[in-house]
Amino acid sequence: MSDGIPAETPLLSASKLLASILSSSSEGQPLSSSSLAKLKLAHKLLSNLDPYLDEVSSKAPEIQKPLLKATAENDWEGAWKRGETMFQLTPAWSAGAYEGNFVGMMTRIMNAKNALEVGMFTGTTTVCIASSLPKDGKVIALEIDPYLANFVKPHFDASGHGDKIDVRVGGAAESLVKIGEEGHQFEIIFIDADKPGYLSYYKTIMEKNLLKKGGLLVVDNTLYKGSPFAPEIVDFDDEISKPNADAITEFNKVVAADERVEVVLLPLRDGVTFIMNKE
Ligand SMILES: C[S@@+](CC[C@H](N)C(=O)[O-])C[C@H]1O[C@@H](n2cnc3c(N)ncnc32)[C@H](O)[C@@H]1O
Repeated sequence: MSDGIPAETPLLSASKLLASILSSSSEGQPLSSSSLAKLKLAHKLLSNLDPYLDEVSSKAPEIQKPLLKATAENDWEGAWKRGETMFQLTPAWSAGAYEGNFVGMMTRIMNAKNALEVGMFTGTTTVCIASSLPKDGKVIALEIDPYLANFVKPHFDASGHGDKIDVRVGGAAESLVKIGEEGHQFEIIFIDADKPGYLSYYKTIMEKNLLKKGGLLVVDNTLYKGSPFAPEIVDFDDEISKPNADAITEFNKVVAADERVEVVLLPLRDGVTFIMNKE
């Protein structure tokens, strides 16, 4: 260990290989065969990491499979062209098996009875949370697009856990205020919605005491393509990625400085932050 940074990780191994290529290369010169071999190894380290995590982690739980299949097979483009969806949705928005198992496991680790999900999409994470709750548990799932609420309904009903799931259609900002007024509190909250909304969702969650003391807030995409520490990765003129990147950078800064919580950002997929409300 040096300065708290582990001596060797897959990313650091790739970074060292790339640094060595950079130090031995000069502009206009072809790469030596040794540099090319290092480049290939760095690429292998980076591109094989996520597939390896999938390979040695549990496969999709039975409860999630019908939703993953329906998500993959739905005609999203047709629905968008017919004006049925609010956004041009894509199956890639689904967290999939790995993150589904992850949030399900976190729900069980937290011994949660009350869970909140901000950004439901096709419910592939919602069912993993619901099936991890006790019989009398509840997950409130917030989703702005009514098309998705209709999409998930038959699947939630067939899952055997539909009675634990309360889908609220509308903007998360308004829904969170309403949930606060209703007096709900949660042991676990999972945020995976519009990135520019993250900070306001966080502020409402903290101000309205939606997260119990000792409760866990899990926030997805907090490394947003690496943009918080390598902003050039996002095109400055990109009307979606640039505001998303800026919002995540600001979110991470504000949360890290908040004395009320304990924060750990994990380099898992596109970054997942654990925020624990201090006792
Ligand atoms: C990345 S997807 C969520 C994926 C989901 N957690 C899963 O694993 O399947 C983000 C979702 O947030 C929803 N969303 C976007 N803006 C929102 C808002 N202001 N309020 C509530 N939901 C919103 C989108 O419609 C989309 O379904």
